[in-house]
Amino acid sequence: MATLFKNIKELIQVRTEPIPFVAGKAMSELPTIKNAFLVVENGLILDFGTMASCPKAAFSEVIDATGKMILPSWCDSHTHIVYAGNREGEFVDRIKGLSYEDIAANGGGILNSAKKLQDTSEEELYQQSKERLEDVIKLGTGAIEIKSGYGLTTEAELKMLRVIKRLKENYPIEVKATFLGAHAVPTEYKGNKDAYLKLLVEDTLPKIAKENLAEYIDVFCETGYFSVADAELILKEGKKYGLIPKIHVNQFTAIGGIQAGVNHNALSVDHLEVMRDEDIEALKSTDTMPVSLPSCSYFLSIPYTPARNMIDAGLPLALATDYNPGSTPSGNMNFVVATACIKMKMTPEEAINAATLNGAYAMGLEGKVGSITKGKQANLILTKPINSYGFILYSFGANQIEKVYLKGKEISI
Ligand code: NIG
Ligand code: FE
Repeated sequence: MATLFKNIKELIQVRTEPIPFVAGKAMSELPTIKNAFLVVENGLILDFGTMASCPKAAFSEVIDATGKMILPSWCDSHTHIVYAGNREGEFVDRIKGLSYEDIAANGGGILNSAKKLQDTSEEELYQQSKERLEDVIKLGTGAIEIKSGYGLTTEAELKMLRVIKRLKENYPIEVKATFLGAHAVPTEYKGNKDAYLKLLVEDTLPKIAKENLAEYIDVFCETGYFSVADAELILKEGKKYGLIPKIHVNQFTAIGGIQAGVNHNALSVDHLEVMRDEDIEALKSTDTMPVSLPSCSYFLSIPYTPARNMIDAGLPLALATDYNPGSTPSGNMNFVVATACIKMKMTPEEAINAATLNGAYAMGLEGKVGSITKGKQANLILTKPINSYGFILYSFGANQIEKVYLKGKEISI
C-alpha cells in the first residue's frame, strides 16, 4: 500500500536526523533534495532520496511530480478557529477610526464574541468551525492548535473545547486543544476579576481536566486584561492538572509576561509585537518557543514582531496565523509566511522553518510533523509547477498549492 512521488523538482525541509527546532543562524538553512522521490506508506514517510536512488519496486500508486515541489504541511500553532459568527461590524468601525482598544472598552471585542458563542448551540458552533478547519486544510495546514476563550463561562468554555475534540476526532489533521478561559474578564465579572479567576480555577479547570479536553493552558497577559500575577496563577493552576503553559504576551504592551512564561516553562510565548531588549534576553537558552502572528499585525495595523533582532540574537521563531474573529479573521499560512518575509525581513528559508519545524515544536508535535523525516506523518503540500520555493512567498496572495495530503491521503474537501 505504498505511494511513490517521483520526479519531484525539489523536496523541501528534509531532515534526515530529527531535530526539535532551529534557532538563530540555523533558521536560514533549509535542506532540500532536488530531483527527488518520496515514498509514503500507512500514512507515514517511509523513504526519500534523489531520483538516481529511486526504488524500482511496484507501488500501489505512483504520482509524477515533474516540475512541482513537495514540502511538509504548515504547522499552525496558534488559532482560535472555534467561534460563533464574525465581527465584521468592528472591522468597519476600525476603518472609520476606532481602535481595537476603543472597541473592546465599549463592550465589543472578545466580549462581543463571547455573547455570540454563548447564544450558539454546540452543533451550530461545530458546523461553523468545521468550515474554517476545512478551509485551512485546503490552504496547506497539516497540524493546528485551537484555543477556547470565547465562552467565558464554565459551560461555554466546555462547549468550545468539546467542539475542538469533535474536530480532532473527525478530521485527519493533528489538533491540539488549549484552555484560554483567562481571555477577557466577562461582563458579569466587571470590576471583580478575582472572582472570575476563582471560577476558572475552582470550577472550569477541574471540569476540563475531568473530561480531558485540553493539553495546554493559555492566558491573555496584557494591560487591561490579565496581569503578570494573574497569568502566573492561571499557569500554575493549569499545571496541577497536567496542562502545559502557553501565553499571549507583548501584543500591545510589554509588562513582563515573557519572563512569567519562561519561569513557568511555557512551551511558547505568542504575539510579541512589542519586544524590549530584556524580553529577547529572557528567551535566550530556554525551551520556550517565541511565536509571531504577522496576520494580526497586518489586520490591526500594529507593529510586527522584530523577527530580525530576535533571530540575530540566536533565538528560534515560529510563525502562526492567530485565526480569530477579532484580530485575524484569516487562517492562511501562505499569507503568514509571505508577510513574514515582506514585513519582518525574514528570508524564505527562515519563514518556512518557522512555519513548519518550529511550529510543530510549539505544539509538542516535533516528533510527528514539520519536516520530511522518515517515520513522520505524510502531511504534505504538493505545489503547482514553480521554479523555486521562494516563489511561494514572493507571489503573496496567490495560491501555489496543487494538492494537499494528510497522513498520506489526498484531501478532497
Ligand atoms: O490572539 N489577543 C488576544 N486574543 C486574540 C484576539 C481576540 C479577539 O479580538 O477576539 C488574539 O489576537
Ligand atoms: Fe491569539
